[in-house]
Amino acid sequence: MKKLLIKNIKQLIQVRDNGDAVIAGEDMKMLPCINDAWLAIEGDKITDYGAMADFPGITDWSNIEVIDATGKLVFPSWCDAHTHIVFAGSRELEFVDRINGLTYEQIFERGGGILNSAKKLANATEDELIEQTLVRLRELQLNGTGAVEIKSGYGLSLDAELKILRVIKKLKEISPLTIKATFLGAHAVPSGISKEKYIDVVMNEMLPQIAAEKLADYCDVFCEKKYFTKEETVRILSAATTLGIKGKVHAEQLSHSAGVEAGVESDAISVDHLEFVTDNDIQLLQKSKTMPVILPGAQWFLQLQNPPARKMIDAGLPLAISTDYNPGSSPSGNMAFNLSIACVQYKLTPEEVINAATLNSAYAMGLLQSHGSITVGKKANLFITKEIPNYAFVPYSFATNLVEQIIINGNKI
Ligand code: NIG
Ligand code: FE
Repeated sequence: MKKLLIKNIKQLIQVRDNGDAVIAGEDMKMLPCINDAWLAIEGDKITDYGAMADFPGITDWSNIEVIDATGKLVFPSWCDAHTHIVFAGSRELEFVDRINGLTYEQIFERGGGILNSAKKLANATEDELIEQTLVRLRELQLNGTGAVEIKSGYGLSLDAELKILRVIKKLKEISPLTIKATFLGAHAVPSGISKEKYIDVVMNEMLPQIAAEKLADYCDVFCEKKYFTKEETVRILSAATTLGIKGKVHAEQLSHSAGVEAGVESDAISVDHLEFVTDNDIQLLQKSKTMPVILPGAQWFLQLQNPPARKMIDAGLPLAISTDYNPGSSPSGNMAFNLSIACVQYKLTPEEVINAATLNSAYAMGLLQSHGSITVGKKANLFITKEIPNYAFVPYSFATNLVEQIIINGNKI
């Protein structure tokens, strides 16, 4: 088997003996690291690590490549647990409309927003979507992401939703990144059909076929005024759960719409966005296994109010960070920039944001056992930085790509 040894690592980040637990509350302030470290990889797995002072040396030199990481840091790859990157074209004209004073909601009411992307996607072939999405995946990879969740939701008809989910299935085969698929049929109600009828299509036509073809790992709903209510969200997620597909919720993004309640009641794996979370929601989350996920890029790009991230962690909750990469509210998949926003705007510490973007976001996409930390037996998905002083330099150097070498599935990319 092919072996890789990284030695003289200035700092090995997020080292966990077990790496099988989410990090919550006070514990998020701790980021276990080894200074002056080595890391061994065999095949696609991490097999050993330690301090250089205790390095046992190499006995068998066959099939081994050595990387010298003097002055550099090694991180487990970012886990991006929330994206919508299968989309056609882009929406920079709506960006300009917002600069000129329209709100995200007003653009949607004029038939723009999600409905604009649905129109564009209807005209794209599977091959075109694969080609466009591969470019985006490559961009994520270059910025240190090793696992990505991708949602449907720009189809809004049986055929188009299946088209997106089949594209994601192909991408799972083609891309070296670990990919999870989420069905988001309930992203918006398409024109020309009543909401009740569309929900019926989502629950009784789309979901059964998607489950039969095993096209989705999760089912998500946009719980928001003018989109789907709490009651509708619970109904859709319960249909999904019956088919063996766990829920996720787009919750409390533009207003308080009881999405957290819906998510917790449905035992969703995550509730995402959370700008309008209340104290009551925080209490509900405390009693649940549902991961709160913040999406700083979307909050920043739409200039929404800050999610009470500090308050959630101080209340003892775990917290995950992801990008929401999509053409409307977050046209970037740069995880490190999302960490910077969370530090600057929400007053999270570098330790907290790194825990949020690795182990906790791995949990939010069902990958806690295999991703998100430097742990023996976990996937060798990691990146080596340029020469930098310490890990705080990553969120500090906002919008700068400090990733120098990427390793995915044990392969240098
Ligand atoms: O997560 N809020 C709902 N969905 C996306 C935006 C979708 C779009 O504008 O295309 C989000 O922000
Ligand atoms: Fe989203």
